[in-house]
Amino acid sequence: MHVTSVRGIVLAGGSGTRLAPMTTAVGKQLLPVYDKPMIYYPLSTLMAGGIREILIISTPEDLPRFERLLGDGRRWGCRFEYVEQARPEGLAQAFVLGEDFIAGERVALVLGVNIFFGTQLQERLRAAAAASLATVFAYHVADPERYGVIEFDALGRPSGIVEKPTEPNSNFAVPGLYFFPGDVAAVARAVRPSDRGEYEITDVISHYLNAGELAVETLDRGTAWLDTGTFESLMQAAQFVQVVEQRQGLKVGCPEETAWREGFIDDAALEALAGPLRKSGYGEYLLGLLQDAGR
Ligand code: DAU
Repeated sequence: MHVTSVRGIVLAGGSGTRLAPMTTAVGKQLLPVYDKPMIYYPLSTLMAGGIREILIISTPEDLPRFERLLGDGRRWGCRFEYVEQARPEGLAQAFVLGEDFIAGERVALVLGVNIFFGTQLQERLRAAAAASLATVFAYHVADPERYGVIEFDALGRPSGIVEKPTEPNSNFAVPGLYFFPGDVAAVARAVRPSDRGEYEITDVISHYLNAGELAVETLDRGTAWLDTGTFESLMQAAQFVQVVEQRQGLKVGCPEETAWREGFIDDAALEALAGPLRKSGYGEYLLGLLQDAGR
């Protein structure tokens, strides 16, 4: 079992305006991506990095729904806590809201609408969890102007992080998965609202970059990073998951499986989780994992 003291935060709030009317009555991270709720994917990502203590931040309306879905985390060998974000005032607020939960430990923040998949991912996550510098990833995209973008100097060293630049200096976007040292809440507290009125994550990252305390790790093309924040990207993510799952017979972003593979839960616990899920086929899949392991 690989367990770390690193804390995890899933930020799963927001206004949901880009997916209305689908999100009029329910938050987007509760919507399905093919065969499971969207939040299962980022949760599995943190768990695959050995992270078991996880804070879920969402709106006052959706937080009780997440609690109903996920509980206290014990059945997955984890500990989940919940905190409300009264208004979506920016990603950097997650660290201020989560200050008591972080308790001065290293922390990973993942956005509830980001899906990661790839062979090298688990090693990268573990390395970032074990590192001491702030760590963000760089991922080549076709449309960098939609994201936080890494600027590089003439020597190819990261020189700036800019939120949604109109004229990006590179094609490298920063995905919504960040690792920060234990002082991040204090750094986030010092951030002032941007021109669009938000506490920007890019300001937190820039603090560490300027202090010479930032590692930028490239995620290569063998890793898939999918965003699910628009109708098109949500559909594409669902199709991606369906194609991979049907071809391999293995699920993407399945927290029960991750908990079991990571040794957070034993065979008997996985079998117990499978019971109520059998009719959808999800439970059969979990039982199949036990049979495969027995062969
Ligand atoms: O997806 C990666 C990108 O995520 C980064 O490259 C950008 O630097 C980062 O700012 C962010 O950009 P987005 O435009 O995707 O951010 P958005 O405001 O849509 O927020 C991302 C998710 O976080 C969204 O699903 C809702 C949730 N959220 C957002 C805000 C501002 C919250 O839960 N609370 C908030 O206050």
